Order: sequence, then structure tokens, then C-alpha cells
Amino acid sequence: MNMYYRFLISELQKDAMKKYRVFSSIACVFVFVSAFIISTSGLHVHVDDLPTPVDGLSWTFYKETCPDLEDIVKSTLEQALDQDITQAAGLLRLHFHDCFVQGCDGSLLLTGSASNPSEQEAQPNLSLRARALQIIDEIKTAVEASCSGVVTCADVLALAARDSVAKAGGPKYPVPLGRRDSLDFASESVVLANIPTPTSNLTQLMSIFGPKGFSLTDMVALSGGHTIGIAHCNSFDNRLYNTSTGEAIVDPTLENSFASNLYSICPAVNDTVNTADLDVLTPNYFDNSYYVNVQRNQALFTSDQSLYTDSTDSGDIVDSFASKKTVFFKKFVLGMVKMGQLDVLTGSEGEIRSKCSVPNPTSSSYEEVIEPIVSTGKRSRSGHVHSEL
Ligand SMILES: *[C@@H]1O[C@H](CO)[C@@H](O)[C@H](O)[C@H]1NC(C)=O
Ligand SMILES: *[C@@H]1O[C@H](CO)[C@@H](O)[C@H](O)[C@H]1NC(C)=O
Ligand SMILES: *[C@@H]1O[C@H](CO)[C@@H](O)[C@H](O)[C@H]1NC(C)=O
Ligand SMILES: *[C@@H]1O[C@H](CO)[C@@H](O)[C@H](O)[C@H]1NC(C)=O
Repeated sequence: MNMYYRFLISELQKDAMKKYRVFSSIACVFVFVSAFIISTSGLHVHVDDLPTPVDGLSWTFYKETCPDLEDIVKSTLEQALDQDITQAAGLLRLHFHDCFVQGCDGSLLLTGSASNPSEQEAQPNLSLRARALQIIDEIKTAVEASCSGVVTCADVLALAARDSVAKAGGPKYPVPLGRRDSLDFASESVVLANIPTPTSNLTQLMSIFGPKGFSLTDMVALSGGHTIGIAHCNSFDNRLYNTSTGEAIVDPTLENSFASNLYSICPAVNDTVNTADLDVLTPNYFDNSYYVNVQRNQALFTSDQSLYTDSTDSGDIVDSFASKKTVFFKKFVLGMVKMGQLDVLTGSEGEIRSKCSVPNPTSSSYEEVIEPIVSTGKRSRSGHVHSEL
């Protein structure tokens, strides 16, 4: 009996040891994997790694006048994104649109410019976009409560886009500040000429990015913003249908199972209600899986897929970003910092808007630009605390 028990115990111990070994090797792998995730997802780019800001912008612009600015933006934004992380894509997109049309001057935020009815592209839901604009207003209100009349809407937008990327899992990076807000917004034709469409091919993409000073690498890296966000069917149904007849014709570059899934989401042409995720693998997580989709012919837009099908130069960049997230993150940050300084107003140009959706009542062009659109009669003319002299 004794022997039997001893045998049993030793077998149990062996078993336990085996289990322990298995467990500890799993634990080791786990520790290794989590260390890997932490070390690659926590990319934090520092000022020293970035080019000197353009004249008039600086890394420390509000250091004296609004020292808590970045904390206020981050905490207000995080409250909003904790409720709905999908807004991160909307905020990134607002900054992109703002900068590509007439420079990063907050013009996009002005009522009358934010909607561009004929825009045929990766429009997040109108509701998504409306909420993103509302979040900017909430941040601006929180900023005004601490440092009234000091911080522009264009800067708030740049910071909100940066913090949205970080909150969704992307890189953290410094943003040069000191942008001024425009007094007016761009015409629809200027908007259309400056925003690439989802049906663009590589040549067409570079014809918009190139003249703004972006390299092919910058363009491919900024396209990686499509690692988060959604798009309406009508922005990619050129890949599923003959858009004039509605006949189903599949784009031969679309991978089969991905194409079937898109047909089930968009059963007919010109659908403006249903949406698909831009990144089929990790829709709300900012990572490099967008480039893996591109490699697998599972990218949503013609413009996305063209990075791989139209040229081996851009294809090689896609491959390098798909295989190394840190390489993508570093190039994305360089692209974003460059984009965030496009044609900025600085110094005494423009103004510091007190409300992001309207120019300040005191600015002379307020009457020229806004009066024909909305009556100024209801607006208080005495309330212009932030007059710019
Ligand atoms: C998009 O719009 C549809 C229809 O209005 C709505 O059901 C859906 O929740 C919206 N999606 C997002 C992410 O806002
Ligand atoms: C891109 O589109 C333009 C305009 O439709 C066309 O002329 C050009 O041939 C296209 N380029 C490629 C590589 O498909
Ligand atoms: C779409 O249909 C129209 C009308 O039949 C035809 O002229 C056109 O060539 C078709 N387009 C494609 C891409 O097949
Ligand atoms: C889809 O919309 C486009 C643009 O509005 C229009 O030209 C086209 O005729 C529509 N296609 C169908 C099949 O209704």
C-alpha cells in the first residue's frame, strides 16, 4: 500500500511537474509576447527625432500662455473616445481634410465648409462626422475655460488628431503649435481638387500629395490612417458594380472571400447607408494590419489597393510597413508632422476663433463671408471678447 501510494504520489508529482513545465513555458511565451507588444506598440517619437517646425510654429508655443493645454485636450478627448472609440478615425480625418484644403487653418470646422455634398469618398457616417465635430467643440470649450482666447481651433484639431491616434493604439508624437484660424473657408471646387478620392489610382494620388511636398513614402504612410474608420458602400462600389448600370462586375484585384463579404454588405450599387470597416482585420485598432490587407488584396478602396498593384516602388514600401509596425509608425509620424504644417497661418495672420464653427464677430471678413449665408442679425456684436488688434 505504502509502495502504491508512493508510486501514485510520485506519478502525481511528475504530472504536476509536467503541467508546471507546460505552464511555465506558456507563461514564458506570454511574458515574451507581452513584452514584444509593449515594446512595439508604445512607440513614442521625441522632438529630437523630428525636423525643425516651420517659421511661426514651435514645440513650446503655449508653454507660458496655456501650460496645461495638452493635458486638457487629452483628458477631454479620452472621455469622448472611452464612450466611442470609432470617433478616433473621424477626428484624424477632420485634421487631414483641414490640412489638405487651404492648409491647417481650422477652415474645415467653419459651418458651411464641414459638409461637402459632392464629396464621393471615405466619408465616415454623417453621424460619425457630426460627433467628431462636436468633440472638437467640447475640447475647445474645456480649453477656453482654462485659457480663454489663447488657443486656436486649428491647434486643437491637430492635438485631437494626434491624441486619437495614440488612444487607438498608434504612436505618440509631439505636435508643433502656433497655427492661426482662417477667417473663411474654401470653395467646393478647391475642396474637390485637393482631396484624393477613394477611386484614385497611384498616379492620381501622387498628383495631389506630390505638389504638397509629400514623398511616395509619406503618401503610403499617411494612407495607413485607414487602419481605423469606416466607409459607405458608395465610396467603394466601383469595385463591385458597373456604377452606371448597377450590373455586378467584380474588380479582379479583390480577393474572393473579401469580395463576397462586400457584396453582402452592399447588395446594390449607390448605397449610401451601409458601411464597411476600412481595416477588415483590426477595425478600431491603430496598427499596421492595413498594409497586410493591401498585400492580401483585401483593401477597401481602389486607392488603397493601387499602392500594391500600380508600382513596385510603393509595393515595396507596403511590404516594409506590413512586416514592421515600428517602421510604419515612424514614417506615419513624419508624414503627420509634415501634414500638420501645410500652409499654416502664423503670427498675426487669421485669428484665434472663440467658437470653432464661426469666425469671431469682430473679424472684417465675417460679414463678407458669413452674412450672405446666415443672418448676423441675431448675433451679439458686443460679445467680442477676443478681438484681435
Ligand atoms: C451609420 O449610419 C447608420 C444609419 O444611419 C447607423 O445605423 C449606424 O449606427 C451609423 N454608424 C456609425 C458608426 O455611426
Ligand atoms: C490612373 O488614372 C488615370 C486617369 O484615369 C489614367 O490616365 C492612368 O492611366 C491611370 N494609371 C494607372 C497606372 O492605371
Ligand atoms: C458599364 O456599362 C456601360 C453601359 O452599358 C458601358 O458602356 C460601360 O463600358 C460599362 N463599364 C464597365 C467598366 O464595364
Ligand atoms: C449611381 O449614382 C451615379 C451618380 O449619382 C449615377 O450616375 C448612376 O446612374 C447611379 N447608378 C444607378 C445604377 O442608379
